Amino acid sequence: MTETAGRLRNRRLALGITGSIAAYKAVELLRMLQNEGADVRVLMTTSAVEFIGPLTVETLSHHPVDSDVLSLRGDGRIGHIAAAHDVEAIVVAPATAHWLGTMANGMPGDTITAACLATSVPVIVAPAMDGGMYAHPATQANVARLREFGYRIVDPEPGVLASGMTGPGRLAALQRIVDAIVEALSGVPPTAPVAAPGAPESAPGVAVSGDVAAAPSRNDLAGRHVVVTAGGTAEPIDPVRFVGNRSTGKMGIAVAADALDRGAAVTLILANVSVDPPAGAHVARAETAAQMQAALQALTPPEGPRFDILVMAAAVADFRPKAPSGKKVSRASGLTLEMDATPDLLAETADRVRAGTRAAGASRPILVGFAAETGSFDRVADKLRGKGVDLLVANDVEAPGSGFGTDTNKVTIYSMDAPPEALPLLSKREVAELLLDRVVVRLASAAIGVGGGTAAGGTAAVAALQATEVSQ
Ligand code: CTP
Repeated sequence: MTETAGRLRNRRLALGITGSIAAYKAVELLRMLQNEGADVRVLMTTSAVEFIGPLTVETLSHHPVDSDVLSLRGDGRIGHIAAAHDVEAIVVAPATAHWLGTMANGMPGDTITAACLATSVPVIVAPAMDGGMYAHPATQANVARLREFGYRIVDPEPGVLASGMTGPGRLAALQRIVDAIVEALSGVPPTAPVAAPGAPESAPGVAVSGDVAAAPSRNDLAGRHVVVTAGGTAEPIDPVRFVGNRSTGKMGIAVAADALDRGAAVTLILANVSVDPPAGAHVARAETAAQMQAALQALTPPEGPRFDILVMAAAVADFRPKAPSGKKVSRASGLTLEMDATPDLLAETADRVRAGTRAAGASRPILVGFAAETGSFDRVADKLRGKGVDLLVANDVEAPGSGFGTDTNKVTIYSMDAPPEALPLLSKREVAELLLDRVVVRLASAAIGVGGGTAAGGTAAVAALQATEVSQ
């Protein structure tokens, strides 16, 4: 199993950003913490939002930003209380003079102060402000009060300040802040995330992250068209026999069900499956790799793709008999199969999507592939690049609870712009929810909504698919 490496491997942190000009540095700090292996959730004050856009932070952190002290999460929990309980440390960087005063006096008017009040995990604070403000006895008294709470203060450094003056007040070097977090957590055993009340049941002893316990209907894919492929293709040897694989389609169907719950129009391209598709999805059958290729081609015409999201969960056969017999081959005649490699449908679809969105001048849909591996994930990064997708979800099909036909899966999500994210063993539906959470954030940043990639595009797509179904 490939997992993120580093001194904060699999640690869950909250990064609190307050309204200082140094807020832009928090974006780099976020990346550094991720490079150390941490899963970082960001809390912002309303004035921090004036300095950096939450979308940037959401895209990079792969979590929604919490900047409203009154906000509720999708699961009904109060945002800052959930953050306080879900993380293993809170780092506030940059911390303004105003925030230090608020925190020193326990006045929870923002999500960061509220989370700090509600938590017992280590808190690390890196102030940044004008030198005179930092030196003022009021600020120093507030810093001293925070030290009394047991908070670690990463002192600001001398340097050129936003005012153009030189003095102490510059946000500490980011590496010093990272080191302070590592130090605060050294010797603190990792904890499991807290599940929300009413969270889906998981296998005994299995951690369920706060995100997993998402609300049954978040509607964050309303107006979107999601295409999901599922099941294993069957490549004919003769009219009776085929070369197949052990995929049951459960993972893809879980993604389709979650997308429907989130308000999307869903087209499910179904190969051979052993579970029923969810009500409400438009189902197009594609038993062979060739039929699936035709269905995908119908959805990616030259004028632009007809979906906002493609999740390619199907196990497409890699080889098919070169010359299937039109008549049943008799046992007496014996059988030697010559096989051809099938085309990589995902890679060629990604190419067509890119060409189509260029032609349409539209934003590109989000593309997700799966990678079935055995033993190691060494090839996954290459597959991600080769297939040209946004996310590649890798699982070890030989690992307990992760194989074909199970109701659970243990996956690691790969992307080009973030360290691999190893999720715990979860139900396939929970994996689907977490995956679509990440897709939703990427979709927002891609600002899709033009061209065929809409629910209306879904209607056109269904018509296009029906045309291919008739011709097969
Ligand atoms: N896939 C595809 N067309 C194929 C084979 C796979 O579109 N002919 C897609 C699958 O749906 C999946 C992803 O590619 O989303 C990865 O599939 P996987 O079987 O793990 O990888 P392969 O490309 O087949 O590579 P290998 O067989 O070497 O593992």
